[in-house]
Formats: sequence, C-alpha cells, structure tokens
Amino acid sequence: MRFLGSEAGTAHQAWYRSFAKDYSSLYDAHRDETAAAFLDRLFRRTGRIHNVLDVACGTFSINLGLIERGYHVVGRDLSEAMIRVARRNVRSQVATADVARGDMRALDLPQRFDAILCLGTAFNYLVTPSDVNRALGTFHRHLRPGGLLVLDLANFDAWIDDNPINARSEGDYRAPDGTRIAVFAFNEQRRRKTVHIARFLTLVQRGNRIDIRFDEAPMRVWRKDEVARRLRLAGFRPVEWRGDLRARSEYVRRKSPRLVSVTVRT
Ligand SMILES: C[S@@+](CC[C@H](N)C(=O)[O-])C[C@H]1O[C@@H](n2cnc3c(N)ncnc32)[C@H](O)[C@@H]1O
Repeated sequence: MRFLGSEAGTAHQAWYRSFAKDYSSLYDAHRDETAAAFLDRLFRRTGRIHNVLDVACGTFSINLGLIERGYHVVGRDLSEAMIRVARRNVRSQVATADVARGDMRALDLPQRFDAILCLGTAFNYLVTPSDVNRALGTFHRHLRPGGLLVLDLANFDAWIDDNPINARSEGDYRAPDGTRIAVFAFNEQRRRKTVHIARFLTLVQRGNRIDIRFDEAPMRVWRKDEVARRLRLAGFRPVEWRGDLRARSEYVRRKSPRLVSVTVRT
C-alpha cells in the first residue's frame, strides 16, 4: 500500500494523471452515449452545427459518439495524461481528430466553431475573475455569431443548500481490467461560500497493490442567476437550462445533478 500524498489547486491535475486510463470507469457505462445523444438532439434542434470545439475534452469519450454521428470535433485539455488517453480512444475508434493539450483560458485556434462544449464541471475549476474572463473571451473568439456554448456545471444550489453531509462516497468502481477505484468526497457545506474546495480521498487497487491519495482543488460556486448574468455580460444569450446531459432532464434547482447552460453567442 502506498500513500501518494496530496495535491492542492491546479484543477486536480495530479488526480487526473493518477488514473486517466481508468477515468471512464468513474461514470456509469451509458453516460458518454447518453450525453452524445443529448448533444446531437440539441444541435439538430438548433441547426447548422457541424464543427465543434470541446475545450476540456478529458478522455474525449463523449465526443466519440458525436464523431460517429458525423460531427467534426476538435478537443483540447489541460492534462497531458487525459490527452494521451483521448488520442488512444480516437485511434481505437478508427477515427481521426485534432486532439491536443491546451488551456481554455488561452486558446488561439485558426478557426471559428458552430458549438463549444465545456463539460464535466471543467468550467468550475476556473476560480478567479481573471481566469473566468479569459475563458469566456476564448469561447467568444472561437464561436461564430449564433453559435452555441454548452456549459455543464456542478449544481451547487442542490449541494450546498440542502446537503449538510460532510463526507459522502462518490462511488465504487471496477475498470474492465479489474482495477478497483473508490472515491470519497469531503464537502464543507456553507451557504454563503463562493469557492468550494473539492476534496477527494481516492483508492486505486490494481491486483494487491493499493494506492491512496488525497487531493483538493478549488471550484467556483456558480448559481444559475449569477452564471446567466456573467454569460450575458460576455456576449452570450441564455436559451435553455438543463439538469443533466440527458433527454428530458429539466433543471430543478434543488434536485438536478448538474446545471447545464445552453447559450447563443450574440
Ligand atoms: C471532470 S473532467 C471532465 C472531462 C470531460 N469534459 C468529460 O466530461 O468527460 C475535467 C477536465 O477539465 C480539464 N481542465 C481543467 N482546467 C482546464 C483548463 N484551464 N483548460 C482545459 N482543460 C481544463 C481537466 O484536465 C479535466 O480533464
């Protein structure tokens, strides 16, 4: 057994590095396909969406379903480890895609897109006003007028107001190669806080070797009204809110697992 030490800040980079290969096992098996189907339906409703940029693509697993449906997807992510897995995933689907390391605060691509995705609470990792401004500037510059921005945020309204529990299990997972992962989240609940420190104790068991690590990263608390106001200021008009990346997932403030904002670049 090894204790791998702790990490603070840097958008959980060491945490992602430690099990990028097993990252998909953290979610239920249908999550990627459900999310791709949801996005496809959204894009068809909006019309004229073909070129998509995912600014925090992780292992690119949701995007594989979009590529299968005929979209052209470019992926960027801060984590080199996640990008390595993303490239492997693209190759295993016998597809090609422009996937590379990149920071959503400072992207400069020679193309404008019909839609931008920032999924899996990645936008919450931007904590300072300057980081938020820089990322919104990136999104605005890289979207054509009328293009869609989809932000999939943690629903802090449900977490903080009604959930007094200090520690909860995120789950107990088994990867296809038998690796077992258990993640425990420690949440300090305070109604008035604007930054949440996401603390995880993670156990990764491969054979009889167990790695234990403790990580923490600050996440910005976005409430619906506040994010709507901030997006308007940055040149995005809210068009719909969802409670998750799945069909018929109406946003319910105190219940939904996520706060998904769909806005149009003005
Ligand atoms: C919870 S994962 C979500 C990955 C993917 N979007 C998904 O939903 O499966 C958050 C991702 O955001 C990435 N990330 C954090 N800060 C970033 C930044 N400034 N620019 C690009 N990616 C970032 C992390 O490296 C990580 O892969």
